[in-house]
Amino acid sequence: DRAELGGYRHYMQKEIFEQPRALAETLEEALSHGDLNPTIFGDHASNVLSAIDSVTIIACGTSYHAAMVARYWIESVAGIPCNAEVASEYRYRDSVPNPNALIVTISQSGETADTLAALKHAKSLGHVHSLSICNAPESALVRESGLRFLTRAGPEIGVASTKAFTTQLTALLLLALVLGKLRGRISAAQETAHLDALRHLPAMVNQVLLLEPQIELWAERMAFKQHALFLGRGLHYPIAMEGALKLKEISYIHAEAYPAGELKHGPLALVDSDMPVVAIAPNDALLEKLKSNLQEVRARGGELYVLADQDSQMQAQEDVHLIKLPEHAGLLSPILHTVPLQLLAYHAALQKGTDVDKPRNLAKSVTVE
Ligand code: G6P
Repeated sequence: DRAELGGYRHYMQKEIFEQPRALAETLEEALSHGDLNPTIFGDHASNVLSAIDSVTIIACGTSYHAAMVARYWIESVAGIPCNAEVASEYRYRDSVPNPNALIVTISQSGETADTLAALKHAKSLGHVHSLSICNAPESALVRESGLRFLTRAGPEIGVASTKAFTTQLTALLLLALVLGKLRGRISAAQETAHLDALRHLPAMVNQVLLLEPQIELWAERMAFKQHALFLGRGLHYPIAMEGALKLKEISYIHAEAYPAGELKHGPLALVDSDMPVVAIAPNDALLEKLKSNLQEVRARGGELYVLADQDSQMQAQEDVHLIKLPEHAGLLSPILHTVPLQLLAYHAALQKGTDVDKPRNLAKSVTVE
């Protein structure tokens, strides 16, 4: 084990730090074409992706959070209606089939029973277009899907998914961009700019990893709390969900995520000095709205832990702990904001001495229902 860990204490830590490489490898083929090329999803992808009129994305766990981010990307970049759904719900509900929909399944392992069954269910309802985004080339899910994109995270050993998630997000952003291009919504200049931004993604993640010592200080303050609330808006709401899931999974702290605009519809009642509130505050169009949500937390004596961008124009205060990522990264922002939340969960778990790589009661892949 020691040799495989290569100097890291846990697989999870190693996998968090492997993300720049995992992202670079996942992007390798896409960037080699010099344009946003549909063939990265399969030889016939261009025809299929041009023909579809909607997208339904199905997954479990962390992969479902990737699906939720993709819903925002696909609707805003490509202008195509998109749903994200938990596999165990989709497979048993009476949904209305649409043969022109693209069914996208996302899975690290490609063996999750519910996700696989959901894809089979979709096909039985008459869906003919399917795409799987998967980290396991030989898996059952990949075999069942018409189109595929293989993420190149490499083996993920830690039960709590890290590099698999950020590589899934990267694949899904490529999907949104390719769909947008096929629909004539992306100019040649924009295409070049998107490809340039993607080329810089691994280096940007490296920058964010340098924040680890600051995150460790947050983890020391939070590790022995009973509960935590995670807030985000828009693209970063699912990232708040992923941050809460990571903390729950490995540090056993009860954590819940809310879209910040929903605060006053319930969770504000829980806010006091014992409830740390983690907020994702990128410098995007929703920042001012988020800031006023955060004022409401402060007014109730809540302690804020804010992940902002360099240009978010926020100040640290006694009750506001602030960590600044580099400048706002546009569409890539959710990928970058994920990393400090992974580190936060990791360091909170270290403080508590839990089994980081094998949290109690959880399995790496859930191959039975
Ligand atoms: C388990 C793992 C999670 C993972 C989920 C879905 O719950 O512990 O980390 O997100 O399964 O797995 P998949 O392989 O389908 O992405």
